[in-house]
Amino acid sequence: MARKIMIAGNWKMNGLLEDGVALAKGVAAEVKKMGKPECEFLVCPPFTLLTSVKKALRGAKVALGAQDCHFTEKGAHTGDISPVMLKDAGCQYVITGHSERRADHGESNELICKKSQAAYDAGLKVIICIGETLAERDAGKTIDVCSAQILGSVPETATSSNTVIAYEPVWAIGTGKTPTAKDVEDVHAAVRKVLAKKLGKGNANKMRILYGGSVKPANAKEFLSLPDVDGALIGGASLKVEDFINIAKNAGCC
Ligand code: 13P
Repeated sequence: MARKIMIAGNWKMNGLLEDGVALAKGVAAEVKKMGKPECEFLVCPPFTLLTSVKKALRGAKVALGAQDCHFTEKGAHTGDISPVMLKDAGCQYVITGHSERRADHGESNELICKKSQAAYDAGLKVIICIGETLAERDAGKTIDVCSAQILGSVPETATSSNTVIAYEPVWAIGTGKTPTAKDVEDVHAAVRKVLAKKLGKGNANKMRILYGGSVKPANAKEFLSLPDVDGALIGGASLKVEDFINIAKNAGCC
């Protein structure tokens, strides 16, 4: 069975009420124009905008996701947001293990695994991020690092229905630099092999693996036509309706 391409926007720490709602409405309007798009669309705004973006997306085939969650349901964790709260706010997805959280908040594979499991328990689907730093790449460790991140961050209960993997080389995020198409395909194929060992071939063959890191309208087709690339996790270019939608169009979503 073919894997459905996912076009996902990670807004990161961007967006106030007015521009966030305008962005969501713009995306919703464009996706509606596509009729029945071939791709699944997702936007992940900051926590403060989830409820208003949910309203702005009404009637459009665009899912809502958050960018992180705690690993418990509720309790004394000042400043944290639980997966149950995200579900309650209308999210279908949550991102875990983004490299900015691994770096800024010292998140370990073990913690990311716990967060992902808590998200499944709350009925959310999870986009688990992996990716190597420039130093790791230069040392020829890309596949080893990504494999270890898969083995450590992906719960045993992950399936192709509750999990999407995003490969985001840290050095390609927000820099305009990207790996070659061959490099991306090699990593994605290697990741799928590790997933097959961990979760079985059936899950691995059906699980989507997104590429993220300076995805733009101009390079979308090159990356998204690779056999093991099943979509894109887009940062900067997801903040402009035109860029986000042109990535989808160039990837053949409509
Ligand atoms: P950019 O598209 O801005 O490089 O960000 C990628 C990313 O980190 C998405 O999660």
